[in-house]
Amino acid sequence: MLIKRLRGWEIKESQVTPEAVFLNRRQALLGAAGIGLAGMMPHTGQAQVAGMAGELYPAKRNAAFEAGRPLTEEKVATTYNNFYEFGTTKRISDTAQSLNLKPWDVQIDGLVEKPITLDAEELIRKMPLEERIYRFRCVEAWAMTVPWSGFPVKALVDFAKPKNDAKYLRMETFMRPKEARGQRQDWYPWPYVEGLSMAEATNDLAFISTGVYGKPIPKQMGAPLRLATPWKYGFKSVKSIVRFTFTDKQPKSFWEDLGPDEYGFWANVNPAVPHPRWSQATEEIIGTGNRIPTVIYNGYGEHVAGLYKDMEGLGRKLFM
Ligand code: MTE
Repeated sequence: MLIKRLRGWEIKESQVTPEAVFLNRRQALLGAAGIGLAGMMPHTGQAQVAGMAGELYPAKRNAAFEAGRPLTEEKVATTYNNFYEFGTTKRISDTAQSLNLKPWDVQIDGLVEKPITLDAEELIRKMPLEERIYRFRCVEAWAMTVPWSGFPVKALVDFAKPKNDAKYLRMETFMRPKEARGQRQDWYPWPYVEGLSMAEATNDLAFISTGVYGKPIPKQMGAPLRLATPWKYGFKSVKSIVRFTFTDKQPKSFWEDLGPDEYGFWANVNPAVPHPRWSQATEEIIGTGNRIPTVIYNGYGEHVAGLYKDMEGLGRKLFM
């Protein structure tokens, strides 16, 4: 992801997956050039570590959410990651093991009846866990299909009891530079933040993942709580959440802060709206080398298109 500057970037779209080419806000060159997907596929598998509340998995599958595509191999999905807190390459699954999951306080605050802080495991045990297979589409034009376990964001909203003036749900990742060495790079606007409108957050599809492949979610995929919004580009799916804040102001997200002309708040998948530096018309299924056409809202239009019907004036901002 990110901000244009390197000439190495100007290689043919077919040869590259847009990758971490990064300039800080002070214009210093910091990143490395993009590397083609095939060259980046991991050679070693990262075993999933024991996570929290392991006996809750596998959760019962909700048959309403099937992907219509083969599942991505577990070893592929769990070793090909974006998690800038642990580095800017895709191979952070080992480095991410330095994240300490216990204790894991989760704060629920802002425009709610009663702010609360509770342990992630306690929260997970209160929520209705189920398994859903979702397609996932990264803004970098790669895709995967994984079985998430977790609970609808709506269940968390009901638990939090937001006030009527709450318009957005802001979600924030941990801030622990001792455990996450990427966070020592202070030109990034840490902590990672993302947000949804309340209408999006309470849509059936919006999901908090606590597990994947029938086990607790591994650290590199965002343990213990990670957002899954399959109709949006993957950067919306904030990992390792420590805080849920209900607010009347549209949150400014991590990537929006870094590159507002390239990454926006809405970030809905649309093959007809190219990223400023590459096409979104097709996507590469990781682990297969196959490239397939991208579908608007990543194929979830029947669930979510209605959310945006009065927002057409936003134009391409809805899709970036
Ligand atoms: N969350 C945090 N905290 N930090 C990140 O760097 N990267 C995002 C998203 N959530 C990111 C994050 C991006 S760009 C993508 S594509 C997905 O996580 C990748 O999820 P995966 O590693 O499970 O494939």
